[in-house]
Amino acid sequence: MLLWSLHLSVWLFQLAVYLDSFHLVKSSEPLRSCEPIRIDRCRGLGYNVTGMPNLVGNELQQEAEMQLQTFFPLIQYNCSSQLAFFLCSVYVPMCTDKVPQPIGPCRPLCESVKSRCLKVLENFGFHWPVALNCSKFPRQNNQHHMCMDGPKPKEYERSGYYHKYDRRSEVVTRVTLPPRPSIPTNSHHFGFCEKYKHSQFFYFINRTRRCAHRCSADVLFSADNKKFAENWVTVWASGCFASTLFSVLTFLADTNKSRYPERAILFLSASYNVYSIAYFIRLIAGRTEVSCHVDSQHEVSILIQEGLDNINCTIVFTLLYFSSMASAVWWLVLTFTWFLAAGLQWSHEAIMRRGTYFHMAAWALPSFQTIAILIMRVVDADELTGTCYVGNQSEKTLMGFVIVPTLIYLLLGVFFLVLGLAAMFYFRSHQEPSVHISNTNEKLEVLTVRVGIFALLFTVPATCVLAANFYEYAYRNRWMSSESTSRPNVEIFTLKIFMSLVVGITTGLWIWSSKMPQHIWKKAWRRFRTGHKKQTSPCYHFISAQEKQLIEFERPKKTKSKKEHVTSV
Ligand SMILES: *[C@@H]1O[C@H](CO)[C@@H](O)[C@H](O)[C@H]1NC(C)=O
Ligand SMILES: *[C@@H]1O[C@H](CO)[C@@H](O)[C@H](O)[C@H]1NC(C)=O
Ligand SMILES: *[C@@H]1O[C@H](CO)[C@@H](O)[C@H](O)[C@H]1NC(C)=O
Ligand SMILES: *[C@@H]1O[C@H](CO)[C@@H](O)[C@H](O)[C@H]1NC(C)=O
Ligand SMILES: *[C@@H]1O[C@H](CO)[C@@H](O)[C@H](O)[C@H]1NC(C)=O
Repeated sequence: MLLWSLHLSVWLFQLAVYLDSFHLVKSSEPLRSCEPIRIDRCRGLGYNVTGMPNLVGNELQQEAEMQLQTFFPLIQYNCSSQLAFFLCSVYVPMCTDKVPQPIGPCRPLCESVKSRCLKVLENFGFHWPVALNCSKFPRQNNQHHMCMDGPKPKEYERSGYYHKYDRRSEVVTRVTLPPRPSIPTNSHHFGFCEKYKHSQFFYFINRTRRCAHRCSADVLFSADNKKFAENWVTVWASGCFASTLFSVLTFLADTNKSRYPERAILFLSASYNVYSIAYFIRLIAGRTEVSCHVDSQHEVSILIQEGLDNINCTIVFTLLYFSSMASAVWWLVLTFTWFLAAGLQWSHEAIMRRGTYFHMAAWALPSFQTIAILIMRVVDADELTGTCYVGNQSEKTLMGFVIVPTLIYLLLGVFFLVLGLAAMFYFRSHQEPSVHISNTNEKLEVLTVRVGIFALLFTVPATCVLAANFYEYAYRNRWMSSESTSRPNVEIFTLKIFMSLVVGITTGLWIWSSKMPQHIWKKAWRRFRTGHKKQTSPCYHFISAQEKQLIEFERPKKTKSKKEHVTSV
């Protein structure tokens, strides 16, 4: 056995040496071989041969040609006479056997072209491509870094514009461009996206046969709208997070106190807590990291239409959608248990026994919906907030996965609320007064009234969110259409964000108003201070007060016996 493994290691060593020598031989060979330029536009510019990979990493000339084609409208626009040479020198750089590296443009050439063409690009909503970042290119041609200066700018270009290469800040003074006819830019949507407003921002994705717009473009909302929405979300998501965290902790500190209609509020708060966390993820990761994705066909960053392409988008969608649906179902459970307790006068134990069903419904229904959406790949990004959800770019999914489920949950909830109210009044008018006077019953009544009010408070924001979704459903086609001038009302979207987060804040208020927290937090604090001496078992607070007293008495003995047990082992 030993011998065998020795043999193996010797053999492996030999293999490694062999591979290494192979590698050495390979790397001593010239890395690139020159090949004739096969792109028509780049012929006759002063050099005839090129070497791949080029300066942007293309391995094949065909690939380089495809990318170069996206610049043709810009070349036609005639923003700089040096542009064609500059682009060719990047995509099919000069090659000679004497220098291992490809020879590209010098930085001044890049700056000169950028100063003339950037404005045009920006007018059409594009940025200067990162691949053409001028700081990648050498400042001047010398023995360490070879580069090409290219043709000088034409006389008319020099006279009209003030252009100076500034060594310190490496920027070129801004130039003003005379107005020119607009370029025909349907090259990237083949005429399929003409029906949209700002169709120059749109790309036709052959795979999905849909039009998607550039991520950086402002199509429905202005940059100011987006900035405001971001701050707005930050404020309300923080409020929602703090408030729901407080509610959840208060509930957890005293689980045995919360009975069923109230217990649903715990899970409602937890759902809203997750909902606000999803917004935090979006805020921390950033708009483009969550809502954009580089399309493989056009190689531009587009606003996501199939969220599975970007893991950040999928995560934000899953958290937002699942928690918003879970909160809707927990609200339904709240109204249903309230109906059982207040309307049908069910006992706490009877409701508690059905707890498993509530949990099954409240976690399974949203899970099914979320999974269905992920399987159907209909997650999409929202232009205003930069989050991912469903139905942001499609009416069908907005109706099917957002409006219909929330409407069903809301209507059922309202139905149980009304039924509960009716039953309460019915019982009250038919009960004997003696039962009414009893203290516990009165307490219960106060509680049921409060839960009822809370359930109503949920209805108002939920209805607002639903109405905003309806508004979007009804008008989005009109906003997007190039034939109409109507634009979305940003206030409605702002209100929708607020209303979708405000319920989390009201759960905190509900907890505050119940006087429970002062009591519970005081108790928790006391337990924390004395916690070093006595360790309460997890079940400690499920036990009655007398039992607790007994345990306190017996505790020292118990720990002793434990110790003895340990030493005996
Ligand atoms: C490039 O090719 C043309 C025609 O084939 C030739 O006239 C020219 O001298 C070549 N230029 C260089 C730099 O080799
Ligand atoms: C670009 O502009 C110059 C000067 O106005 C003109 O001579 C040239 O023909 C134009 N080129 C194209 C392709 O329009
Ligand atoms: C260009 O590259 C430099 C250095 O790598 C970087 O600081 C700069 O932000 C880049 N500019 C753009 C527009 O990407
Ligand atoms: C995409 O579809 C358009 C129009 O049908 C076509 O002209 C184009 O070549 C297609 N592009 C790719 C990469 O398939
Ligand atoms: C997701 O977000 C992280 C953190 O901002 C970022 O580093 C990563 O590139 C993002 N992923 C995608 C696919 O955009």
